[in-house]
Amino acid sequence: MLKPRDFNADRFAYDAMLPVFPLLAQQCLDDYQLDQGICLDIGSGSGHLGTEIAKITNMTIYYIDIDPQALAQAARLVAGSNIDNETHFIQADICQGLPLEDNFADFIISRGSMWFWKDQVQGTAEIYRVLKAGGTALIGGGLGRYVPPTMRQRFTALRRNSGHSENYRRLSAKELEAVAIKAGIPEFRIIEEEPKEKKGGWIEMHKPMV
Ligand SMILES: C[S@@+](CC[C@H](N)C(=O)[O-])C[C@H]1O[C@@H](n2cnc3c(N)ncnc32)[C@H](O)[C@@H]1O
Repeated sequence: MLKPRDFNADRFAYDAMLPVFPLLAQQCLDDYQLDQGICLDIGSGSGHLGTEIAKITNMTIYYIDIDPQALAQAARLVAGSNIDNETHFIQADICQGLPLEDNFADFIISRGSMWFWKDQVQGTAEIYRVLKAGGTALIGGGLGRYVPPTMRQRFTALRRNSGHSENYRRLSAKELEAVAIKAGIPEFRIIEEEPKEKKGGWIEMHKPMV
């Protein structure tokens, strides 16, 4: 089975990525007018993205991950951050279903996690189930469009030179589109980030108001 990156073993490479998270959080705030309500960070890992969203909004953040160690790291990050947002930590496999009711979350972000899911269609459908009508979910992976070219080049070089071999496969835009269609998502668009690499990117889904 594919195993997610070990955050401790790969600490150096991961720490080098940290400048990306405030930029991606700001992009989400600007694109989706985040302010109040419930945000799920699915496959949160050590919790940096959810925490950056917390810093610039009043949202309640749910950190959700299959790995209890990742959640413990996220809880430590939250404890050490100067935020007073309501936070929750849930251990769950997105493919097995979340212990959350339908139409629960105003915004859902999932970065770098779906490449590891056993059933990406089921995971995507589950995200849609818990998304509120009128809400948006952004799932997939990448650095976001606020990352300046020099920063993107630095990460690409770091990844190449770190000897870190990716033990997962990012989906192409076509594959992401196929996942969204199979999951029955009625309104979505694929956001390609590094088209030259022909892989990576996001499914942005919007749940219409009923
Ligand atoms: C590469 S890390 C990404 C962490 C973080 N989102 C980021 O952007 O750095 C992938 C995370 O997805 C989690 N994950 C993998 N499969 C999952 C699943 N089926 N359900 C929930 N979380 C999962 C892993 O435990 C890991 O913490």
